[in-house]
Amino acid sequence: MSPENHFILPYLIILLLSLSPCCISRFHNYLLDNFNGEEYGGNYLGVYPSYYNPIRGVKFCNSGKKEQGYSPYLKKLQGRLASAGKTKTVDVLKYGAKGDGKTDDSKAFQKAWKEACSSSSKVIFVVPGAKDFSYHLKPIRFKGPCISDIAVQIAGTIIASDDRSNYKKDGRHWLVFDKVINLSVGGGGIIDGNGNTWWENSCKINKKKPCKGAPTALTFYKCKNLVVKDLRIQNAQQMHVSFQSCTYVEASNLVVHSPEKSPNTDGIHITGTQNIQLTNTTIATGDDCISVVNGSENIQANNISCGPGHGISIGSLGSRNSKVHVSDVMINGAKLSGTTNGVRIKTWQGGSGSASNITFQNVDMQDVKNPIIIDQNYCDQDAPCKQQSSSVQVENIFYRNITGTSASKAAIDFNCSKSHPCQGIVLQNVNFTGNVDAGVEKVTAVCNNVNIQNVGTVSPRCPA
Ligand SMILES: *[C@@H]1O[C@H](CO)[C@@H](O)[C@H](O)[C@H]1NC(C)=O
Ligand SMILES: *[C@@H]1O[C@H](CO)[C@@H](O)[C@H](O)[C@H]1NC(C)=O
Ligand SMILES: *[C@@H]1O[C@H](CO)[C@@H](O)[C@H](O)[C@H]1NC(C)=O
Ligand SMILES: *[C@@H]1O[C@H](CO)[C@@H](O)[C@H](O)[C@H]1NC(C)=O
Ligand SMILES: *[C@@H]1O[C@H](CO)[C@@H](O)[C@H](O)[C@H]1NC(C)=O
Ligand SMILES: *[C@@H]1O[C@H](CO)[C@@H](O)[C@H](O)[C@H]1NC(C)=O
Ligand SMILES: *[C@@H]1O[C@H](CO)[C@@H](O)[C@H](O)[C@H]1NC(C)=O
Ligand SMILES: *[C@@H]1O[C@H](CO)[C@@H](O)[C@H](O)[C@H]1NC(C)=O
Repeated sequence: MSPENHFILPYLIILLLSLSPCCISRFHNYLLDNFNGEEYGGNYLGVYPSYYNPIRGVKFCNSGKKEQGYSPYLKKLQGRLASAGKTKTVDVLKYGAKGDGKTDDSKAFQKAWKEACSSSSKVIFVVPGAKDFSYHLKPIRFKGPCISDIAVQIAGTIIASDDRSNYKKDGRHWLVFDKVINLSVGGGGIIDGNGNTWWENSCKINKKKPCKGAPTALTFYKCKNLVVKDLRIQNAQQMHVSFQSCTYVEASNLVVHSPEKSPNTDGIHITGTQNIQLTNTTIATGDDCISVVNGSENIQANNISCGPGHGISIGSLGSRNSKVHVSDVMINGAKLSGTTNGVRIKTWQGGSGSASNITFQNVDMQDVKNPIIIDQNYCDQDAPCKQQSSSVQVENIFYRNITGTSASKAAIDFNCSKSHPCQGIVLQNVNFTGNVDAGVEKVTAVCNNVNIQNVGTVSPRCPA
């Protein structure tokens, strides 16, 4: 690019942005804000996939039904909840909860929720207690929509019934917030799925047992304007926290923890959810730290610590020939240690649709087995997966400032599909060395059916 363009372009971007400021997704706004010609050697338009072209980026605004910017809603919500105004306090102890760790407190919680949900003034739903308060709960659904804003303050421990016969009606959920709008959940307490009995009965642990799903500890289903913060979620029966079909979510200061050997215990699962920001969160479990699947858009994760576990994952996508869509994902600032994967995109053969506009940046990995991986031949079943011609398209994936040590030889592994090669893959300032303690002296990049551009330092590199 000529030096003239180099100077004009930023102004052009600003001009275009000022003409249509609201219609660019946060993701692209972010990229544009950080679009700095110097850092990219002034050659960015030639190097980046088309979507980094700021002029085309503007075009992609306003895709119609999308609501703009999520933080205003949440700021308003947090403001209202914190304001002096009339507030009703609903304390579960006043509704008969014992908090003694033995008594089933489900009925008391249900009664208290009914009261909270029908209040005409904002509500603080209190689950009191220091460490010595432990509330034993069967599966329970906190149903909305409610009349007013609700802040759930969990100070004690909520522990799941481990009698599996209590889960007969719905074997896949323990705590569910269902269609609650303008909700905040926090308080510094603990949510404990008491998962041991489920793990022992998993077919991944005991081959003689049938393969059946287990409950997700905490599910937010069709919630809108949601804040989740300052909680520890541990020992989930299966997944720890799932955001399902939610919009406008801020989740922060969470600790998610279960043993490395616990099967399928994803940390944070995001499905069918748009506009979610996950910040300052530490995850150590037996499966993916974060998994983002179909129908999710505008996903941001910042300052994530992960490990042990299976890493940060987009997917799996496209199982059983499904059509899927995931786009605008930004993982910015993560530390992974001792995980089996680092940043992974996994799709099954036979699916369709796309996973696109995904950025992983500022990630440090130590002793990670597959640090950077795209697997379009993912197959997590006993029977071998047969070759199929259709595939989920993987495109516009950006890896930037990613460093660390690999616990296997293939620090970079792009196993893309022959029929739908990975497109627009950019690596910038990526540097892996072998983890010598794990016996890995030299690392390589395995690159099949992938269209790659390298910028700056990239080591290892795909063979030319
Ligand atoms: C990815 O970004 C490009 C360029 O901004 C845009 O044209 C495309 O629609 C985006 N893809 C998706 C699936 O949002
Ligand atoms: C939720 O909050 C938004 C904006 O703060 C408000 O407009 C809306 O009426 C609230 N909805 C409910 C169901 O409380
Ligand atoms: C994340 O942590 C930093 C440092 O403690 C703090 O300044 C920031 O406000 C936190 N972010 C959120 C969303 O809680
Ligand atoms: C990152 O998150 C951790 C909690 O997981 C927090 O202690 C730390 O201050 C955060 N750092 C930054 C830079 O926000
Ligand atoms: C994928 O997500 C979209 C949007 O949420 C949904 O309409 C569609 O049914 C989902 N597809 C599958 C196979 O779940
Ligand atoms: C690169 O990432 C590391 C963390 O992995 C961070 O400390 C450093 O500031 C980042 N560099 C840039 C230029 O953003
Ligand atoms: C790609 O994935 C397929 C299916 O998992 C596997 O058989 C093959 O060995 C992989 N190729 C590479 C180069 O990793
Ligand atoms: C990659 O990282 C290693 C270990 O930190 C360092 O010795 C090496 O100089 C780096 N390579 C480049 C090209 O920056």
